[in-house]
Amino acid sequence: MVKICGIGAGYVGGPTMAVIALKCPSIEVAVVDISHSRISAWNSDQLPIYEPGLEEVVKECRGKNLLFSTDVEKHVSEAEIVFLSVNTPTKARGLGAGKAADLTYWESAARMIADVSQSNKIIVEKSTVPVRTAEAIEKILAHNSKGINYQILSNPEFLSEGTAIQDLLNPDRVLIGGKESPEGQKAIQALKDIYAQWVQEDKIITTNLWSAELSKLADNAFLAQRISSINAMSALCEATGAEVSQVSLALSKNTKIGSKFLNASVGFGGSCFQKDILNLVYICEGNGLSEVANYWKQVINVNDYQKNRFVKRVISSMFNTVSGKKIAVLGFAFKKDTSDTRKTPAIDVCKGLLGDEARLSIYDPRVTEDQIQRDLSTNNVEWDHPIHLHPLNPTMVKQVSIVRDAYEATKDAHGICILTEWDEFKTLDYQKIYDDMQKPAFIFDGRNILNVGKLREIGFIVYSIGKPLDSWLKPEGHAYSGVMDIIP
Ligand code: UDX
Ligand code: ADP
Repeated sequence: MVKICGIGAGYVGGPTMAVIALKCPSIEVAVVDISHSRISAWNSDQLPIYEPGLEEVVKECRGKNLLFSTDVEKHVSEAEIVFLSVNTPTKARGLGAGKAADLTYWESAARMIADVSQSNKIIVEKSTVPVRTAEAIEKILAHNSKGINYQILSNPEFLSEGTAIQDLLNPDRVLIGGKESPEGQKAIQALKDIYAQWVQEDKIITTNLWSAELSKLADNAFLAQRISSINAMSALCEATGAEVSQVSLALSKNTKIGSKFLNASVGFGGSCFQKDILNLVYICEGNGLSEVANYWKQVINVNDYQKNRFVKRVISSMFNTVSGKKIAVLGFAFKKDTSDTRKTPAIDVCKGLLGDEARLSIYDPRVTEDQIQRDLSTNNVEWDHPIHLHPLNPTMVKQVSIVRDAYEATKDAHGICILTEWDEFKTLDYQKIYDDMQKPAFIFDGRNILNVGKLREIGFIVYSIGKPLDSWLKPEGHAYSGVMDIIP
């Protein structure tokens, strides 16, 4: 039986390895992690991450050809193929802080592979890494090789959270980058053979190593750029009376543009977009390409602008202060159908409102109280280090309460902010919610999921991103007078 080992049991490593185990019964898959709590969760009925369909796949394979373990060294040493899916957050300190990828976890994993290996191995980069990381892995391994041959492949993961299992079962493409040498081609073929057990061959693209690494960064940068483009349009729509969803619809009918990633929102979040663009910017700068770097940086600037704009709308509409007012926050995850809060726009929006001394009552169907409290008490740059590797900040944010449903969150509130597009928020009883709120009652829909006309009929003052403004929200002069940026 072929043995493979996945290092890192997170959002990428966990689901990816589980699907490989499901589709390749003749392969023994070990998923290892340094975090005991994560591994024991993978071995329990309460998996550490929520993904539709994941539990079924894990239950089907766990104990047969899929195991989760903290015995990293044993499983790495036994494996013929090692997948590296450790986290590569943005550096918080030192050279390249705030931009470059922090390769601490990745490097320590590479050194451990070098220490424990006794036989030839194929090392597969799964995590998003800066271009030419494969070269760095190779250097670490080569200096400690004890005569062992390592082939490094780049096989970036394109799954989206919330649809990870579907994306893994039916990928639109699998990208494998490797060396052009005969050994490199042989390694590519070995990985191709695994995917070919369930993916059509013509969907498996092979490239050189650097193209595969750069394609992953480019992929995320292009997707994020579309969102920033439509979000930039949303500001113009509000200024002119156009409606952003109508503009999106018109654009989407152009077959050259297509329909995806055109929903205006309070801003994009998630563990990849910002990190990968910052990485791209850093690489461009390092290569003297400042114009290219500035071009991509602008995608992030517009995203920050969009979050700032939202907070300013909330504060300026509510008589230029939310101090002491109860604001219900509906949704905290970075998008629906996930419990992940990494880089969620909700963190910045909540911090902005807390900065103006609002009292927040937060409800999210999947995110735990502990997670929200940690997110709101952690520094921005440190957000994407895995939470279990942080010490818990004992000073819970006092102005925040986390509640169990939307009605409790909105009771006696002055305003509501919709920050994640959970389906259940579309069908709440807004008449009841209105009746139980302070008046005037405000709703700020950061995801454009509510029926603005109906809410206005009930009596709400409504702001929905990119839609014609309520006359209330258009005071004389500048809409955001006197309100500071939350993200400098
Ligand atoms: C993304 C990429 O889509 C995926 O290919 C890559 O492998 C990992 O990064 P993910 O972060 O899971 O996946 O989420 P995605 O669905 O891309 O959404 C990212 C963010 O953009 C979310 O905050 C989402 O709400 C926001 N978004 C998405 C919009 O604001 N508007 C859109 O039209 C689409
Ligand atoms: P991603 O979204 O990229 O999967 P996560 O943070 O969810 O990122 O998962 C990465 C996992 O990698 C974490 O659970 C972390 O504990 C694990 N990890 C980091 N460094 C190592 C290492 N050297 N050996 C094993 N696991 C590691």
